[in-house]
Amino acid sequence: MAFNVAIDGPAGAGKSTIAKAVAKNRGLIYVDTGAMYRAVALYILRTGTDAADTEAVAKVCVGADITIAYEDGVQVVYLNGENVNAFLRTEEVGNMASKTSANPAVRAHLLNLQKNLAANNDCIMDGRDIGTVVLPNAQLKVFLTASSDVRAKRRFDELTAKGEETPDFDKIKADIEQRDYQDSHREIAPLKQAEDAVLVDSSDMNIDQVIARISELCDEKA
Ligand code: DC
Repeated sequence: MAFNVAIDGPAGAGKSTIAKAVAKNRGLIYVDTGAMYRAVALYILRTGTDAADTEAVAKVCVGADITIAYEDGVQVVYLNGENVNAFLRTEEVGNMASKTSANPAVRAHLLNLQKNLAANNDCIMDGRDIGTVVLPNAQLKVFLTASSDVRAKRRFDELTAKGEETPDFDKIKADIEQRDYQDSHREIAPLKQAEDAVLVDSSDMNIDQVIARISELCDEKA
């Protein structure tokens, strides 16, 4: 049976940075499910579909064939055969993903892909509903969070480091809080801590401390 680690938590909690590092130091594959939702969102944007039209999104998303490959250890998302990694990390796509991921048809469209990856690989998978819905039997579940102030500050620093001039801290924080609200209040598979998940609040921890904590939890369960 494959060894599965589920990491859930709100936007900007550092899930992907931490999961990538733990994947490397514990020999696991890193599965970024947010990137899959972002690829569907990109498709919805490209097709000019109205995100508020639930039926239209449900119909159109079927046309988004999402596949995953690993190239030099990096997850590559293919949308209808095109490598779309370069388009996924924009705010526009992230905000659209938060809306379209509330659609049950979009979630059903991606669920099997996620379950199959976990059944066939020792992996660490991050998202919002991994411990609660996708991998209810994962050997380790972690709920990784941090205050919205800390998450907004991290995003602010990231944008500044990328050379973006004067990012707007209040806007970043408001976007994060809106996404938190959408992700945790949707009817289907809302963001919430699984009962058997270990809570890690990284507000006062640095990256190395979080990586060490989760690696240690992996060793306890391996
Ligand atoms: O983690 P992220 O920012 O890349 O995720 C983008 C959006 O996708 C996020 O707002 C919520 C959604 N998502 C989800 O609903 N379920 C997941 N397992 C992963 C992401």
